[in-house]
Amino acid sequence: MPDPKMPDQKKVFIKSYGCQMNVYDSDRMADALAPDGYESVDSAETADLIVLNTCHIREKAAEKVYSELGRLRLHKRQAAAEGRAVRIAVAGCVAQAEGEEIIARAPVVDMVFGPQSYHLLPEIVARANRGEKVVETEFPAEDKFDHLPQRQGARLKARGATAFLTVQEGCDKFCAFCVVPYTRGAEVSRPVARVVEEATRMAEAGVREITVLGQNVNAYHGEGPDGTGWSLARLLHRLAEVPGLDRLRYTTSHPNDMTDDLIAAHRDLGGLMPYLHLPVQSGSNAILKAMNRRHDRDAYLRLIERIRTARPDIALSGDFIVGFPGETDADFEDTLSLTSEVGYAQAYSFKYSPRPGTPASENAEQVAEEVKTERLSRLQDLLNRQQADFNRAMAGRTTDILVEKPGRHPGQLAGRSPWLQTVVVSAERSLIGSIQPVRITGAGPNSLSGELLAERPAEPAA
Ligand code: 5AD
Ligand code: SF4
Repeated sequence: MPDPKMPDQKKVFIKSYGCQMNVYDSDRMADALAPDGYESVDSAETADLIVLNTCHIREKAAEKVYSELGRLRLHKRQAAAEGRAVRIAVAGCVAQAEGEEIIARAPVVDMVFGPQSYHLLPEIVARANRGEKVVETEFPAEDKFDHLPQRQGARLKARGATAFLTVQEGCDKFCAFCVVPYTRGAEVSRPVARVVEEATRMAEAGVREITVLGQNVNAYHGEGPDGTGWSLARLLHRLAEVPGLDRLRYTTSHPNDMTDDLIAAHRDLGGLMPYLHLPVQSGSNAILKAMNRRHDRDAYLRLIERIRTARPDIALSGDFIVGFPGETDADFEDTLSLTSEVGYAQAYSFKYSPRPGTPASENAEQVAEEVKTERLSRLQDLLNRQQADFNRAMAGRTTDILVEKPGRHPGQLAGRSPWLQTVVVSAERSLIGSIQPVRITGAGPNSLSGELLAERPAEPAA
């Protein structure tokens, strides 16, 4: 007999596209639906509810959603033929940007809601289950972070040794190419106490490393217990005191918000990993200006120098856009030379993609697709060489890794070095979730291999 007090057991499949904040948000959505009896599953096949958590940053990312919806149309029809109702939701930044147009283009969709509406999720799903088509893309007046359910230890436990924690959302920078200020809205920071509470719960559930997230994370200015606005550096120092949290990272940062105290934290805070993602987008002053980045090439290079003085072994990562409107061959050469000067350990590079509603999309000097393709491949060749060199320099060294998960082959585990490199070792599964010293024995372009130095004994069985 089903328990009348318990909600019906249902299954939800949430698919994340795009950035790490979407990964974090997908977990939050799963948490918000759990009290209504929704269990998370790893594929659409058996799900009663399918949520696509979408990305609008480039056209390619947005178009992926529509091809997935094409597949889901057949899936929904098949399920209906078997007597099962499947509801389909589009969440995330495409939902925020396109709203009801999504349902017009893909009538298979039952719900469309943006990142500002996740606290309304149970209600949205209930309305859709009554047969309503729901569109929620308003920005709420009050702090949406306050509406989130408590994260549950048991659910967190299943998610492993590393976790994302959003502390800041939205962006006020308005780079000329970027949709984020429109889809994620104005910059908002979570209060320190809430962040610390969530980090403590994560650590209690076995999380050893937290990556603090924000679209503009180093602009963080959340209210501290003393009533003042705390900087990201101050927040990181506080998080480093949470018992069990050994490692901290943060992403994504804007160069103009790299404050002195944050640079000093890279020198003083042992738990802050020596890795920094600091997008520059272009090495040309003219293009940086047209992008509205509000800093020039020299300011970026001087900043990198200060960061390296504070933490000489830091691994730098970046984002680059090639073929921004008006970019000449000489501008692009400036990007290559800046890349050579900095020496990145890792990077992401993209062809400029005009996004509706952004100033750059209306610029008449759009660069031809073939030119973008050629520039991207030259830049990526250089960045790949830099990454391979950075990895190769690790061979023979010893370092700690946080063991995260089983590797691709039996008997292998995969972990991360302090510099965010994947390191594969042969070891027992019981070591997952622990930090282990390893000697690096091999270095490929995308990952390292190593051997454990002194295996920490497994916990005795209770
Ligand atoms: N076209 C190409 N790349 C873009 N990015 C943001 N907007 C665009 C766009 N319109 C890139 C930037 C940013 C990263 C997240 O995505 O490099 O840092
Ligand atoms: Fe987009 Fe980052 Fe620029 Fe904000 S700072 S507008 S998120 S690229």
